[in-house]
Formats: sequence, C-alpha cells, structure tokens
Amino acid sequence: MNKLYIEGNKKLNGNVLISGSKNAALPILFMTILTKEKIKISNIPQLTDINIAIKLLKSLGTKIVNKNKILYIDPSTLNTFSPPYYLVKKIRASIWMLGPLLTRFGKAKIFFPGGCKIGLRPINLHLNGLAKLGAKIIKKDNYIIASIDQPLIGKYIYMEKISVGATITIMSAATLSIGMTIIENAAKEPEIIDVAKFLNTLGAEITGAGSNKIYIKGVLKLHGGYHKIIPDRIETGTFLIAAAISRGLVTCHNTEPKYLTNILKKLSEAGANIKTGKNWIQLDMKEKKPMAVNISTSPYPGFPTDMQPQFALLNSISKGKSVIIENIFENRFAYTSELIKMGAKIEIKKKYIICNGVSKLSAENLIATDLRSSATLILAGCIAKGITVVNNIHHCKRGYESFPIKLNKLGANIQHMQ
Ligand code: EPZ
Repeated sequence: MNKLYIEGNKKLNGNVLISGSKNAALPILFMTILTKEKIKISNIPQLTDINIAIKLLKSLGTKIVNKNKILYIDPSTLNTFSPPYYLVKKIRASIWMLGPLLTRFGKAKIFFPGGCKIGLRPINLHLNGLAKLGAKIIKKDNYIIASIDQPLIGKYIYMEKISVGATITIMSAATLSIGMTIIENAAKEPEIIDVAKFLNTLGAEITGAGSNKIYIKGVLKLHGGYHKIIPDRIETGTFLIAAAISRGLVTCHNTEPKYLTNILKKLSEAGANIKTGKNWIQLDMKEKKPMAVNISTSPYPGFPTDMQPQFALLNSISKGKSVIIENIFENRFAYTSELIKMGAKIEIKKKYIICNGVSKLSAENLIATDLRSSATLILAGCIAKGITVVNNIHHCKRGYESFPIKLNKLGANIQHMQ
C-alpha cells in the first residue's frame, strides 16, 4: 500500500478544501505541555506527523481525544520529561518538546529529532537559545539532556540565522521565564504568528510575532483555551500548481490568500489568471501553456522553500529556460533525478538547477524521497503520458491530508497499489 498508480494526461478542474497547517499544528500541539488546563484545538489536519505528535504527547501522560478534526487535550496528567526515542526520531517537530518539558519539569531528555532528509537539519540555534535563557544542555549518546536549577531568565537573543524552529523553541521557553525576552532576527512565517496567538490565548504575553523582533514577557502560569489552526499555505500552493501544470481551473477553499503573496506573484508571472476572495484562491490557466519562472527561496515573506520542488515541475513543462536557487536547505534537489527519468531537462548545480521546458513528460516508476517531492512526483504522474507509479508515498501522508482523494475529485485517476 505504499505505492500509487497514476493515470496521466489529466486536466485538473474543480474545488478543493484546504486542511489546517501542518507546520502550525505541530508546534501548537507541543506547546500544550506548558499548561495543566484543558485545551481544544480545531482544524487539525489528519496527517501521520500529527498522529506521531499525538502519540508523543500521550507517551508523556497527556490525555487526548481526536473527534472530527478537533482535539480535546488534558495536559494535567503529564508525568514524564523523556519521550520514547523511537517516536521522537520520526519527526523534526519533536524538538519543540524540549523547551516546554524543561520549563515544566526543570529537565528534559530528548533523542535527536528526525525529519525530511533535505539537509543536515542541525539544532544548534534551538540549544543556544535555551542556553542563553539559563538552561544547562548536555549532548550524550544522541540524546539532548537539558536542565535548570532555577527558572529561566528573559534575555535579548540575536538569531545568527533565521530559523522557524529555533524561533518557536525560544518563544516557548521564554513564555514562563522571568522577565522580558527579545528575539531579534526572528523568523516571520504565518505559523509563528499562529503559535504566538495560541500561547497568548492561554495567557502568554507575546507581541511582535510575524515581525523580525518578538517580545515575550514571562508570566507565572498558563490556563486553558480554544484555538483554530490556520490553513496550510503549502498545501494551497501545491493544488494551485496542480491547476497550472494541467492547464486547468482550480479553486482552493478555506485558505488564506495573504499567506501566498509571493507564490501567487510567481504563478501570475507564469501566465496563470488568479482571483482571490476572503478565504479562497482560484487559478485558471485558460488552457495556456505556462511560462517558466525564476525562483530563489528565502525566509518568509520570500519564496518558500517548501514550494521549490512543485515549481521545478511547473518549469519543466513550461515555455523557456529558468533557474531555481535553493538558499534554505543544502540537499533539496533529490527529486530532480526522478523528473529527469520522465524526460525533464534539468541541469543540477550545487545550490541551483537550470530547467529547460519540454512539451510532455513520460510515465515512469518513481521513488519519492521526502514530503514535498512526493507530492510533486504525484502531480507529475497526473500530467505525464501513460501510467506512473510513485513509491514511498508514506512521505506524502506526512504532510498532505487525503492527497490522492482530493486530486481524484479534481479529475485525476490515482489508485493505491493493491
Ligand atoms: C521548518 O523547518 C518547517 N518544518 C520546514 O517545512 C520549512 O521548510 C522550514 O521551517 C523553513 O525554514 C516544520 O515546521 C515542521 P529552519 P525547520 O529552522 O524549523 C538551519 C515541510 O516540508 N538551521 O527554519 O527545521 C537549517 O538547517 C518542512 O513542511 C540551523 O542551522 O527549518 C536551515 O538551513 C520541510 N540550526 C535553515 O536554518 C538550527 O538550529 C532554516 O531552518 C536550526 C536550523
């Protein structure tokens, strides 16, 4: 069941409901460790990474009920500071337990986190930030052991590199520290705004989230509350690419256009007709062949690295030559070998690729290597000539809720391999 059969030559048209953001839901779930009172979270995406996060919280003693994409969480029974390594190493998001467990128990012991193989994925910025707040950090046998012998003290922290994860780690640890913490050169992603909004709902005093300077005034304790997860901007962008590459017309509902400004700019440059409303985005290619666009990934509000593989597919079947520069991760072009097998003309350099558009891709037996490239290969199968098989689709289930079902509703024909 880890393979998909995908019939090609499809035009994708119709409406798609966007799910909650994976990269907002994951940190927010782990922030619940900071309180002992009941929490309700809605618009939770049904993803394997979310299931792992729920298993991790339950392994720590938290009670969680998952009903119709709403989580009812009772963190009062949380009783251990060391989650099981076999779960921790499955997802990168595990690192976001470190700050909250340290705050709650005065110590935390976490195996080195996992995540997509798109680079080394160091955690030095997370650990340096916690150390600046007063934590003692030891690394031993692939474990991180953090401890404090007094409450964390608020500090001014300049981030030597913009990091979504480390910004969230520091924000979470500063929430219950003593005094003011200022994070300078903070990441500005919408998911960080959503984490700050959630923590403020519980009684935190965080201002400036979404800017490059975040202020966290430590409070004594947090209470319970309700939060709705923001829409997933990368899932939205992925379905807009589905319309663009198949010359179709797709409307994404339950989304937030203001999170996709840079993506929409590039899609318009490619020749797409874009319309937006309060919570929807429509892309109509009007049967036209797209124009290739140059991309250079950067931290938000720049072009998101998580949309890089999808745009490489678009450029591969567009008119003209284009360059895609990957500035965030050092190994995020692994999928190109699979597109080249399908007939794409891509030259791979160290930090960039050069695409020369071709008229058609041919079906192939493909191997997915990570989350965003697995979605890209499935989309490539939808437009290629023939029947494409994509293996290792467990990568896709990590970050896209019901991806084959949503695509089939748009006119694709994707079957799980029996
Ligand atoms: C988050 O990863 C997202 N993951 C990624 O999405 C996303 O691509 C990335 O942010 C964008 O920056 C989740 O939210 C679960 P970073 P994260 O810290 O936090 C380096 C997806 O497909 N760095 O912003 O791991 C790092 O190597 C995933 O949904 C350090 O050097 O990313 C990278 O080069 C993929 N030291 C850069 O900073 C650190 O301590 C940005 O990484 C941390 C990061």
